[in-house]
Amino acid sequence: MNQLNDEPMADVRDMYMVHTMLRREFGLLPQLIRDVAPDDIKRSEVVGAHAEFVCKVLHLHHEGEDVVLWPLLHQRGGEEAEDVVPVMERQHHGIESANAEVLRLLPQWRSTARAGQELAEAFDRLQAALLEHMAMEEERILPLAEKYVTAAEWRRLGEHSLEKSAKKSLPLAFGMAMYEGDREVVAGVLAEAPLPVRLLMPAIARRRFARHATRVHGTPTPPRATH
Ligand SMILES: [Fe+2]
Repeated sequence: MNQLNDEPMADVRDMYMVHTMLRREFGLLPQLIRDVAPDDIKRSEVVGAHAEFVCKVLHLHHEGEDVVLWPLLHQRGGEEAEDVVPVMERQHHGIESANAEVLRLLPQWRSTARAGQELAEAFDRLQAALLEHMAMEEERILPLAEKYVTAAEWRRLGEHSLEKSAKKSLPLAFGMAMYEGDREVVAGVLAEAPLPVRLLMPAIARRRFARHATRVHGTPTPPRATH
């Protein structure tokens, strides 16, 4: 393990867990939207609420990296970081505008179930930008994080999302991430949480996600991004 002033360094496996969730949910969304019949506003409300939720998760995830991760890598990563962090920042801007476009179209579709094709195409564009970005981040940024970012600093990424989320949305967000998450990684993410949360969250989150997935995807076990 690399050490910076004898501190344990970042365990970046939780980032893969979040990316897997984003790959799955953004991968399924365009077709979910296309499958809603025009004027089926009951269904567009369910899918629309879900779409808004995953867009929010993505936004907070990237905001955390903007606030916590890029500044640390700029400070410490020297040339290695300067080669890639500005690319990450540019990609975040691109993704943020694709996300804004989706959120501009979403409310009307959600309440009318019309012009779904336009919204689905906006999600296609968001997904393409996101996939390119996450692949590059995994290849180029995570090795730098393991080298230059301490475990305590890395935890601030998760804390950022936690602080900015409505508390009642946390079990669903956590269940969504846990669905394809490794047991050990899930336990690691909860390691600093208060004991009751540590004990109860996995079961609550699993149930909450199963219920949500049944409503949104028609099954408690939607297709996985990983096999
Ligand atoms: Fe990320």
